[in-house]
Amino acid sequence: MNGNFVYSNPTRLYFGDKSLDFLKDELAKYGRKIMLSYGGGSIKKNGIYDAVMEILKSSGKEVFEDPGVMPNPTVEKLLEGCRIARENDVDFILAVGGGSVVDYAKGVAVSAWYDGDPWEKYYLKMENPANRILPLGCVLTMVGTGSEMNGGSVITNHEQKLKIGHVFGEELYPKFAILNPKYTFSIPKKQMIAGFFDIMSHIMEQYFSGDDDNTSDYIAEGLMRSLIHSSRIAVKNPEDYEARSNIMWIATWALNTLIGKGKPQDWMVHMIGQSIGAFTDATHGMTLSGVSLPYYRVSMKDAPWKFARFAKNVWDVDCAGKSEEKIAEEGLQAMENWMKELGLCLHIAELGVTEEMFEGIAKGTFLINSGYHKFTKDEIVQILKESM
Ligand code: NZQ
Ligand code: ZN
Repeated sequence: MNGNFVYSNPTRLYFGDKSLDFLKDELAKYGRKIMLSYGGGSIKKNGIYDAVMEILKSSGKEVFEDPGVMPNPTVEKLLEGCRIARENDVDFILAVGGGSVVDYAKGVAVSAWYDGDPWEKYYLKMENPANRILPLGCVLTMVGTGSEMNGGSVITNHEQKLKIGHVFGEELYPKFAILNPKYTFSIPKKQMIAGFFDIMSHIMEQYFSGDDDNTSDYIAEGLMRSLIHSSRIAVKNPEDYEARSNIMWIATWALNTLIGKGKPQDWMVHMIGQSIGAFTDATHGMTLSGVSLPYYRVSMKDAPWKFARFAKNVWDVDCAGKSEEKIAEEGLQAMENWMKELGLCLHIAELGVTEEMFEGIAKGTFLINSGYHKFTKDEIVQILKESM
């Protein structure tokens, strides 16, 4: 393990079917005025809203409701949230929902007391905050992004056709995250499997990079094995608590920065997926599943040894008498079979991508190039063609 790094994670995490019991104690640490941010209404149907409201009221809090955070939250909604937070001088933001609500709450937390244009400062220019930051916490209802225990905040600007994530420092991590696996039972199947692939993709983005022997890779392999196992159970029975709880925990560890430590990290699948999202507003995990196989089939040529290790250690491919290249390809084939079994999107045309969008999507794809293959814009266009 050759890299230098710092590891620290300030989020206090409460896990299990009793985890909401701790919300009251956590809220007691903050002021009276709470901004309650949530999505399009799922929390009102499944009872989470009522349970949270009861705790807020019995804690003597004044609640400022901020509903309507859409999947892939927009810059317009971000500005609306900033107005609500600032006009009411809220003390704390409680995000109840999936990655979109939590990401958005971070955006509001860092932008409410910034006088300029937060999109420009935090997302286009990627500057660090120097203004007052509001504290936030979350009750997670959808699994995949890892936003509950990281500083990521992804915002979409439809006018500029850009979807950008700023990875903030510890000051924007949720102060606490409440994870009750039962809350995930009501997620629609499409969202559930998209979340599963999002988790897989986060792990692969970190795994497929670097050439030293790194403990992080061994942890990543364990997480992937557990995800594949539990995902197969959860698609058959979404109310299998054991499987859903494992998946919820895997998602957190997939992107709370631990498994990326000491590694260059790739993230190009996410860059392509986010650009597709800016053009189509498609579900995040599906934009990743749509491009992953063509992407990794190119990447594999530069590091067949790593893909062969993936095949052997994650997918149990039988290696006897086979070349490294053959083993590597069989690993990706096993992943493709799993993706089909879950029902993931394998063709981005299904997400509304058209050929006319290729150039724009490639232009909006930030080339990070720290994975095994260094991609050019033309190669991104080629990946998009092969993903149709
Ligand atoms: O809006 P409501 O009505 O709540 O419905 C949501 C939404 O339609 C629904 N849902 C959530 N929990 C539910 C539920 N429906 C029934 N029962 C429940 N318990 O699911 C839909 C999707 O929710 P969303 O929050 O959009 O999903 P997800 O958690 O996948 O978040 C996606 C966003 O996170 C960003 C993505 O780009 C995207 O904008 N990401 C954030 C990252 C981070 N912070 O580190 C990293 C990721 O790579 C990702 O980019
Ligand atoms: Zn993701």
